[in-house]
Amino acid sequence: PRDLRELAYQNGIRIGSAVNIAALRDEADYRKVLNREFSHVTAENAMKWESVEPERGVFTWSDADALVDNARRNNQKVRGHTLVWHNQLPAWLTSGVENGTIDAAELREILRDHITTQVRRYKGKIRAWDVVNEVVNDDGTMRQSIWLTHLGPGYIADAFRWAHRADPHARLYINDYNLEWNAPKIETTFSIVKDLQAQGVPIHGIGFQGHLGIQYGYPGDWANVMSRFADLGLEVAVTELDVRMELPVTSEKLATQADYYRRALTDCLGVKACREFTVWGFTDRHSWVPGWFEGEGAACLFDENLAPKPAYHALLGVK
Ligand code: XIL
Repeated sequence: PRDLRELAYQNGIRIGSAVNIAALRDEADYRKVLNREFSHVTAENAMKWESVEPERGVFTWSDADALVDNARRNNQKVRGHTLVWHNQLPAWLTSGVENGTIDAAELREILRDHITTQVRRYKGKIRAWDVVNEVVNDDGTMRQSIWLTHLGPGYIADAFRWAHRADPHARLYINDYNLEWNAPKIETTFSIVKDLQAQGVPIHGIGFQGHLGIQYGYPGDWANVMSRFADLGLEVAVTELDVRMELPVTSEKLATQADYYRRALTDCLGVKACREFTVWGFTDRHSWVPGWFEGEGAACLFDENLAPKPAYHALLGVK
């Protein structure tokens, strides 16, 4: 294959990237590589609640629209990220809940309206939505969030039902990190899915974020975990893959990183239900890793100058 788009096509999947909208607008070289290599896109931040409704009732869709328009022009499918999360909520919402001016009944309406408004706006233009993101803790308990605390665990089923009503064709996902290897988290997520299915809730997919680091070892059981969820009838996606390392970069570390990317794609291709393989940014020029993990970086397929790294070549060599 000459690039990732062709590799994906030959294997019957889509290879995607998270997109930084400022870079999409301002950097021609970024735009060029994105549109050449990737057939699926996710907004890195532009579809999060704080981005689309910074003030109550004031909607700012222009960044999200820019992503969706660029995707249409470049034959890219879109993952909507994300409808229900505990992070990047607008301040009006979190402070309203905290100071008691928004009570539980109103909060439920606010969530329903948010999901309905956003999903409707992009109806037919989003292949898959991350309906709920990171709802389980690493120890397998349910994450405390304003949603769980004020609405109770039923908010998850409600969110899927509301999203489905707003766009019946969109694939609706539960998405999380460390699901590649963490047993308590896997088991709880498995039970949540089975429980939702038993209630007839429209859930169609499981997203594995895949934020890996070479110092932790490759999650060797990942393909098995994917298969277990696939056996429940779910579609599988790798939604946010990156492979970070402690800086400085060395050629050995880049080789290990390349091997992790290769294994991740191999695992996905080995599971029939795995249809999407998305990286959380494609260039080290714009990656969340240095800002979030002290002393770490270089997690992407392309370097800061958009030169392909060993990991990129390793992916092209798969199959
Ligand atoms: C990250 C973005 O990459 C950052 O730019 C932002 O500051 C914080 O969020 N899991 C997710 C993503 O589901 O939304 C997060 O994205 C990374 C972890």
